[in-house]
Amino acid sequence: MASPILFDNHGRPLNYLRLAVTDRCNLRCFYCMPEEGIAYLPKKELLTFEEIERLVTLLAAMGISKVRLTGGEPFVRTDLMKLIRRIVSIEGINDVHITTNGILTGPFIDELKALGIASVNLSLDTLDAQRFFKITRRNEFDKTWNTLQRLVQSNIPVKLNAVVMEDKNTEDILPMVELTRNQNISVRFIEEMPFNGEGSHYPKLNWTYKRILDHIRSAYPEIQKIEDPKNATANHYSIPGFRGNIGIIAAFSRTFCGSCNRLRITAQGTLKTCLYDDGVLDIKKLVRSGKTDEEIKQELLFAFAHRPKDGFEAEAHRHKKSISESMSTIGG
Ligand code: GTP
Ligand code: 5AD
Ligand code: SF4
Repeated sequence: MASPILFDNHGRPLNYLRLAVTDRCNLRCFYCMPEEGIAYLPKKELLTFEEIERLVTLLAAMGISKVRLTGGEPFVRTDLMKLIRRIVSIEGINDVHITTNGILTGPFIDELKALGIASVNLSLDTLDAQRFFKITRRNEFDKTWNTLQRLVQSNIPVKLNAVVMEDKNTEDILPMVELTRNQNISVRFIEEMPFNGEGSHYPKLNWTYKRILDHIRSAYPEIQKIEDPKNATANHYSIPGFRGNIGIIAAFSRTFCGSCNRLRITAQGTLKTCLYDDGVLDIKKLVRSGKTDEEIKQELLFAFAHRPKDGFEAEAHRHKKSISESMSTIGG
């Protein structure tokens, strides 16, 4: 049977669900959480695996075909693999991806490969163990690095995510570009957003996508723009002769909203139709108040028909004006 196509009120197809399976994390990254952490949700406030499976099945029947598991750190959720096994077998879900910091991922790589996980995005902001500690406030560089090597050996497509921060890791930009010389990986540099649990770190963003690109170009003048996959958030580049490629994600400048195909369900079971909104539907409440699939579907369709056109409109319509929630509850 052909998959249904779901559209929003701006004619954008919606086919991609980002699902935060926990708000907990084993790191305390500067761009995501304050050093002391955030108040984690009690376990009963998280969607259960049964609730997640029901929602993903419903969304798949409506047109969602790609799921990305995020967190917090998804592998901190007990029995995550049980959930992944269930999600990959849902009819209509063609691609399952994971965004992880890699610390707990190693033992599961063989099974991820066997389950056909489409790709793993690994958060790694620096190649230097001391700077890793300064950024993440934990001493775990080696585990993430080993996970990267094992993913590459297993032929699981890997993208590295590096959030670029003044005085933290700008000296890593060029060495991370170098990683793409001999390895077939995508290294993505990301503009920092204010989802860090305490509010914006700067009056004005220093490292915009344009500055990041100019910096790379000054060392590699031969850098070339290459084609972007459909609905990509990153602008892709490559350096002739290098095996991998480079992406720059204008996450704060929000240049890619015109083709946004994403929905989010946060760790506490709230629907977001844009990263920059502060939640548009309490799905957990619907599920726990005994609504039927059809009733939930109608509420979802209403939310999809009222999506902001871009991240700026979503931000302007927030109930809570300034952004200070942690990315750990949203999932990126
Ligand atoms: P794929 O396109 O499936 O590879 O996913 P992705 O690269 O968007 O996912 P990932 O979880 O690796 O996120 C990388 C960075 O992009 C993170 O900083 C996200 O917060 C940011 N990001 C992901 N989706 C969006 C989005 O829709 N809008 C904005 N502004 N940023 C996003
Ligand atoms: N700004 C930009 N990217 C962020 N991420 C987490 N917090 C932020 C932020 N404040 C990224 C992480 C992770 C992805 C899910 O989101 O690097 O790879
Ligand atoms: Fe989509 Fe909002 Fe991100 Fe723009 S900022 S791409 S509309 S989620």
